[in-house]
Amino acid sequence: MKKITIAVDGFSSTGKSTLAKQLAKVLGYVYVDTGAMYRAVTLFAMRNGLIGGERDNISALIKLLPKIQLKFKYNEALGFSEMYLNGENVEKEIRTLDVSKNVSRIAEIEQVRYKLVDMQKKMGKEKGIVMDGRDIGTVVFPDAELKIFMTASPEKRAHRRYKELLDRGENVKYVDVLENVEKRDYIDSNREFSPLKKAEDAIEFDNSDMGLKEQFERIHNYALRVIEKQE
Ligand code: DC
Repeated sequence: MKKITIAVDGFSSTGKSTLAKQLAKVLGYVYVDTGAMYRAVTLFAMRNGLIGGERDNISALIKLLPKIQLKFKYNEALGFSEMYLNGENVEKEIRTLDVSKNVSRIAEIEQVRYKLVDMQKKMGKEKGIVMDGRDIGTVVFPDAELKIFMTASPEKRAHRRYKELLDRGENVKYVDVLENVEKRDYIDSNREFSPLKKAEDAIEFDNSDMGLKEQFERIHNYALRVIEKQE
């Protein structure tokens, strides 16, 4: 059967990665979490004192971009790919609230987006890919055969994220997580380069009151219909 490209965009903590991973698994497609790439660049900038301290040094970060090597490596035991920054597995560090607090600032830098979008386009050349992010249906794969745009209320999303962080052993407050979710929504939607917005031909899913299982079944069925329609 002919393979398609599936773009999953939407606000943070709407369950994009859960859905994208499930879809990729059942279809036998590659899954790519582009948020992990922006998070890894952010971790690099934080470790080098270029962001998150007294003064950001964005021009130094731009100069260092060629020295940032990002790779996804599939972890057989976990069943998904992990992010490597210059050869080091950073999967855990990139998910902390500290990185979340700085990532929107990094994701609005034109040169960062240029580098990462170029890598993402190359990853999708062969199709058979499910990619999640903010600009996948609008910028990375404007011709994707299936585009999904996910939303949910900020409070629902903050609750999900708060639980996730607690489960991972992070000591966080709900109000801080909610503030981070709302701040990122604002910056991600209002930045100059590739802001988060629904592609005209994307299907919108509000999962504030929908279970993950029901949501997956609906989208899976829809994806199968789109795939069947291909030559
Ligand atoms: O999906 P996530 O929450 O892990 O993404 C982290 C941040 O990266 C998010 O706040 C916005 C940014 N991002 C982006 O600008 N473009 C993408 N394609 C993916 C993520």
